[in-house]
Amino acid sequence: MHRGSLILGIETSCDETAAAVVEDGVRVRSNVIASQHDLHAEFRGVVPEIASRAHAERVLPVFRKALSRAGVSKRELTAVAVGNRPGLIGSLLVGVAAAKATAWGLNLPLVGIDHVHAHLYAGSLETGDPLYPALGLVVSGGHTALYRVGSPVEVERLGATIDDAVGEAFDKVAAILELPYPGGPNLDKLAADGDASAHDFPVSRLGRDSLDFSFSGLKTAVLYAVRGVPGKRDEEGAGRPTLDRQRRADIAASFQRAAVRAVLLKLERALEQHPECRSLVVGGGVSANSLLRAEVTRLAKQRALELRLPRMEYCLDNAAMIAGLAHHVLIHRDGRGDDLTLAAEPTTAC
Ligand code: KG4
Ligand code: ZN
Repeated sequence: MHRGSLILGIETSCDETAAAVVEDGVRVRSNVIASQHDLHAEFRGVVPEIASRAHAERVLPVFRKALSRAGVSKRELTAVAVGNRPGLIGSLLVGVAAAKATAWGLNLPLVGIDHVHAHLYAGSLETGDPLYPALGLVVSGGHTALYRVGSPVEVERLGATIDDAVGEAFDKVAAILELPYPGGPNLDKLAADGDASAHDFPVSRLGRDSLDFSFSGLKTAVLYAVRGVPGKRDEEGAGRPTLDRQRRADIAASFQRAAVRAVLLKLERALEQHPECRSLVVGGGVSANSLLRAEVTRLAKQRALELRLPRMEYCLDNAAMIAGLAHHVLIHRDGRGDDLTLAAEPTTAC
């Protein structure tokens, strides 16, 4: 009989309703994700009220599917984990309520997990722990930050964006280029047909030693390249005609190059400041980006660092990363879970 952990994870922080069963923090027995992209497409962004209603409708069917795909009965579970921070409050509440009810009904420990820390853990799924300490990078729609990761449960933030997250910049630039929602993956595809040197968009550096990021200037530069600089009357000024596909592809490729350069620049700086780091762990939706994946792979090779770059299904929001990290949190706490007053927290200090 299996005596390790068999943890149910639930994730509803934004617009994916997800549930997964993970064994011993590594073996993914099931990973079910119900995306809501179709519901938010006409608004070109996540509408919080629609998201929380959809989570409420889907959370139980998704939970049942996760159990049946894993071939596991409720009685075999050893704990219930939920991403309870950060995220949209109405969305988080649905997952937290479902997790509490399940944990209470089955008399199992309940574990609240930080969604961003879980993104840092995603690269350990199916492969096991990287060499610690690791340098961590989270690039998603809501977060862009660097971390020193001492273990799955020791995470120290080194720097973060001071304005937009990089995924948000991808999504806004995609909207400027009139690409369908979700923007990031569509921009990635369009960029493949473009000339990345067509536009010299700004790469933010901030202070000499800064490990923070900024993407709002880059986003504005793209807006001006597409719509013209307000008040400036050149032949390419405001009110220019709709761009053809090739020009949009060139803008997409040039933007992507500048955004990925800005991320890599800070990653290299962080590695110089933390030479003790032996591996690189990357997570979050933008780690699905083709150029970013190629660049971090090149950097890790160049510096002889072990690289943990999650498989595509673990880059985007998922519950396997929540259940996987919960295994380590429970070991760290000698098996003690959170109590049933566990709150949904829209923001997090780290
Ligand atoms: O981690 P995630 O699923 O949700 C958050 O925690 O925010 O990340 C979603 C973000 C979105 O901004 C989406 O456009 C971006 O990840 N994204 C991409 C790609 N795939 C997803 N951005 C660039 N290239 C991609 N291939
Ligand atoms: Zn996420």
